[in-house]
Amino acid sequence: MGDSPASIAPRTSGRARHVAIIMDGNGRWATKRGLPRAVGHQRGVEAVRRLVRGLEPMELDCLTLYAFSSENWKRSVDEVDDLMNLMRRFIKSDLPDFVANDVQLKIIGDWQSLAPDIVAMLEDALTKTSNGSKKLAVALNYGAQHEIARAAAKAAALGEITPETIAAQLDTHDLPPLDLLIRTSGEIRLSNFLLWQAAYAEMLFVDTLWPDFKPEHLERALDDFAQRERRYGGR
Ligand code: IPE
Ligand code: IPE
Ligand code: MG
Repeated sequence: MGDSPASIAPRTSGRARHVAIIMDGNGRWATKRGLPRAVGHQRGVEAVRRLVRGLEPMELDCLTLYAFSSENWKRSVDEVDDLMNLMRRFIKSDLPDFVANDVQLKIIGDWQSLAPDIVAMLEDALTKTSNGSKKLAVALNYGAQHEIARAAAKAAALGEITPETIAAQLDTHDLPPLDLLIRTSGEIRLSNFLLWQAAYAEMLFVDTLWPDFKPEHLERALDDFAQRERRYGGR
């Protein structure tokens, strides 16, 4: 048999290098408490901050967070505005922290079509964090089907469509292979996130609502991952 495709690199180590999280449940967290959904999103940002600050001992090379999907534009104008404003505030307040903590920001998705001031802030953040050794990839205006279509079109323009040439054009081309995909809030679906990259990722669905997610939850998820046997179709 030939080698596994480069896009599905086999790994024997028990340590996860790349974890991605579908951060779901902000709205329900707020509604349960009789609060506006916007408060749930604010608390969701705090959960992100806690997690990024607690990353150091986890020895991850990359954490990818689903922050805004290409389908989230279907929400009310007010909710989308709240989310965009939170993003502006988060970049402004946490950029110095990223730089100080050796974090290299990556953005996946169609982020260049966000509001021009957000695009400018993100470009600045990408430049200022470019020397960091731990990657934090944020999925903004991200949809996996669109990402794959864009990558396939680029591969075709270069002359050859294969799993390897498509993978090389994905937004995640410079991130490590995905080891573990976590979704919070009890929903068991991918909602158009990392469909290609998840081909052989391990999955974990937890009931915790995103604003309640703590670094300890991620540590537990990493312990769970370390117990799993990855087979990639072999024996
Ligand atoms: C996740 O929380 C945040 C985003 C999708 C931006 P939700 O807003 O989807 O929360 P629920 O699913 O309504 O509880
Ligand atoms: C997925 O959550 C997107 C993000 C977490 C950013 P959604 O809440 O949008 O997904 P659905 O609508 O429940 O599938
Ligand atoms: Mg949701």
